[in-house]
Amino acid sequence: MRQIPLIDMTVHHAPRDFSDSLALGITKVLRFAADLFFAKRYGHRAIVLETVAAVPGMVGATLTHLKCLRRIQDDKGWIRTLMEEAENERMHLMTFIEVAKPTVFERFMIVSVQWVFYLFFFGLYLLSPKTAHRVVGYFEEEAIISYTLYLKEIDEGRSPNVPAPAIARHYWGLAENASLRDVVLVVRADEAHHRDVNHGFAGEIAGAAAATNITPYPWHADKLEANA
Ligand SMILES: [Fe+2]
Ligand SMILES: [Fe+2]
Repeated sequence: MRQIPLIDMTVHHAPRDFSDSLALGITKVLRFAADLFFAKRYGHRAIVLETVAAVPGMVGATLTHLKCLRRIQDDKGWIRTLMEEAENERMHLMTFIEVAKPTVFERFMIVSVQWVFYLFFFGLYLLSPKTAHRVVGYFEEEAIISYTLYLKEIDEGRSPNVPAPAIARHYWGLAENASLRDVVLVVRADEAHHRDVNHGFAGEIAGAAAATNITPYPWHADKLEANA
């Protein structure tokens, strides 16, 4: 089994200006809403929230791409990084759909939330890419907390530690006998990487040097399906 990178779960970007505080405020409101709706149904929570988490990377990639075309300038590797983030979040979704099945109401929520969140995030990224990346950084801090709580549910026997879905074993190169616990650990490590990348991008837009303390990404298969 491939090594799951160690992550620092205590990383928190203390807000430094209005844009940071706004990003944190947006995150806390959405966290409250998610806690209210899902409570401890972590499998369902993961499915619905991963459909949201896969949006910002693609929006950021699109708008960075357009900006680079307009200004005829280099993207410093941001576009591929952000597109890969979107793909990685979609793989989280494809993994958790094997573990829990959304209810009809959750399917309805996924569709309606996508409309609202896509338009909101697109507008935010147009107005302030720094705030938009900071929002993602804070979302990822919350995702790490949620997946840590999911691990606790598994460890204390309230969520069954089922075998890892085949798609997850392939994508993260997990052992044949890997379990849901291993999947949650490696997904949480992905989120730690996204957290550091997005806080780093927000910092760079504000004029800081490129971040160097980024949690290493877990290994991922190039081809997303085992039989591709
Ligand atoms: Fe995710
Ligand atoms: Fe993420």
